[in-house]
Amino acid sequence: MSEAPVITFDGPSATGKGTIAGRVAAMLGFHLLDSGALYRVLALASHRSDIEPDNGAVIAALAPGLPVEFNAGGGIRLHGEDVSTAIRTALVDELASRIAALPEVRKALLPWQRDFRRQPGLVAEGRDMGAVVFADAEVKFFLTASAEVRAKRRHKQLIDKGLGARLPDLLRGLRSRDRRDEQRSISPLRPATGAIEIDTSQLSIDQVVDRVMQSIAARRGG
Ligand code: C5P
Repeated sequence: MSEAPVITFDGPSATGKGTIAGRVAAMLGFHLLDSGALYRVLALASHRSDIEPDNGAVIAALAPGLPVEFNAGGGIRLHGEDVSTAIRTALVDELASRIAALPEVRKALLPWQRDFRRQPGLVAEGRDMGAVVFADAEVKFFLTASAEVRAKRRHKQLIDKGLGARLPDLLRGLRSRDRRDEQRSISPLRPATGAIEIDTSQLSIDQVVDRVMQSIAARRGG
């Protein structure tokens, strides 16, 4: 049997990628991979084991045996504990971004990410899904939005969850993580060859999903 089809969404944080990928996966009946969550869980597990965030070899060695479970509702468990909220703190934002720049860590996560590819298909979202992890993906998207729009979206998300946040701090953190993503030597953030770019700054989630579904239908000959 041929390999399951993959649709990829890449781009910087808070472009709506996660929400859009989730909706598209549900509409197509495909599985979903939030690759950022893997970097986040690994960052959290390393931190809890007191591993320095620049120790690529030790962090990478932790990855294969990590008892992580993903459930359909988006919940994530580590050692049986629900860490869905714990992996979204400002500390883990920073640690995940730092460990993601380490070549050993990116290499260790390759097989783990590719394991999510199953029939009838996979929607994968992150930074390098189309360029590296699933270079043979059927349709690739690259979502962008201005840093100000993204910081405002993240601010609203945190306030809605009852978490405090200051807009200037969010904007600064986001820009510094963007820089790290774009400038790292391995798998820097940039559109994959053939990716369809969508600037979501002025678009609603529904409008982006409509465009995406049209592009998928056109590319897949539906
Ligand atoms: O998307 P999210 O913000 O959850 O990702 C957490 C961190 O993991 C990001 O700061 C990014 O640097 C890194 N990441 C990555 N490659 C991916 C997904 C996430 O480097 N495919």
